[in-house]
Amino acid sequence: MSTELGRILVLGGTGFLGRRIVRRLLDRGYTVRVASRHPERSRRMFPDERSALESIRADVNDDGSVLEAVKETFAVINAVSLYTEHGSETFNAVHVVGAGRVATHARHSHVERLVHVSGIGVDAPSASPYIRSRRQGENAVRRGFPAATIIRPSVVFGPDDAFLQPIAALLRRVPIFPIFGRGETALQPSHVEDVAEATVRSLDAPKADVIYELGGPRVYSYKELLALIGEHVGSRPLLLPVPFVMWRPMAFAAEMLPTPPITRNRWSSWRSTMSPLANTPASTRSMPSHAELRLSSQR
Ligand SMILES: NC(=O)c1ccc[n+]([C@@H]2O[C@H](COP(=O)([O-])OP(=O)(O)OC[C@H]3O[C@@H](n4cnc5c(N)ncnc54)[C@H](OP(=O)(O)O)[C@@H]3O)[C@@H](O)[C@H]2O)c1
Repeated sequence: MSTELGRILVLGGTGFLGRRIVRRLLDRGYTVRVASRHPERSRRMFPDERSALESIRADVNDDGSVLEAVKETFAVINAVSLYTEHGSETFNAVHVVGAGRVATHARHSHVERLVHVSGIGVDAPSASPYIRSRRQGENAVRRGFPAATIIRPSVVFGPDDAFLQPIAALLRRVPIFPIFGRGETALQPSHVEDVAEATVRSLDAPKADVIYELGGPRVYSYKELLALIGEHVGSRPLLLPVPFVMWRPMAFAAEMLPTPPITRNRWSSWRSTMSPLANTPASTRSMPSHAELRLSSQR
């Protein structure tokens, strides 16, 4: 791949995953253009990178800003995410129309590689508008940029994550902990640094139009994972099985709290990583994964 311009655009480069991708690209010596609606955040995140970092304001819902953002970049990574809909910020707007817009402008601007971050489990039928929009988003991306690379991580963990950290905080606080169903569903959490590394390495792969499904090295039952986290935080609350159908109304009620421990959309997103399809460990599925990127995930 030619790197004559040496500039990569990371949309959503201030997010949980996006900023790790940016860090790795900077370490590799690229000029990185970080685009989000709050560019001051990326300046604060990478204060020592003034020469290699361009922080710009772009909204995937705003045509002009996307067009400006993709200009003179040889690769684009889209790590934008929306977990809760507000007004005009809908799953369709961000994950489908916005993702398609990025792809189309990238192609028209002669970008060589587009990497779109989606999520595992999106190809199973789902009642969740969040999951359906991710699937439709992948289709929109492939229509706009047929050779796009798609990254589907399983649930991602790491410092400041929105999955294990809230669970750990709750396990510390409560004597009774409600669990999804009987806690037997399988999860294959990926470490955020591994997902970031895999995303960056996908740029070097000779074939671009690949879907990578990324799972961590171990599959845990939900109950096992809770026991492990409980052990780490020194807490053993009583685990109370709650049928899956009860979780949506519980999440709805939790949304009334100032800092909800769960929302309906987070629930949908976790549920997708617990779907029967996603339960099949990424390592045994037919989709390319870490190994194809010469990455052996140990965490
Ligand atoms: N975290 C997980 O467990 C997990 C699991 C599987 C897949 N993924 C996927 O990984 C990707 C990144 O997720 P994440 O958890 O890192 O998300 P995140 O922490 O919520 O970050 C989202 C990023 O997108 C930007 N953004 C949001 N709306 C935007 C818009 N309209 N225009 C431009 N930028 C916008 C945000 O910055 P501003 O708000 O400043 O614009 C932020 O930089 C997503 O595709 C997600 O589905 C994540």
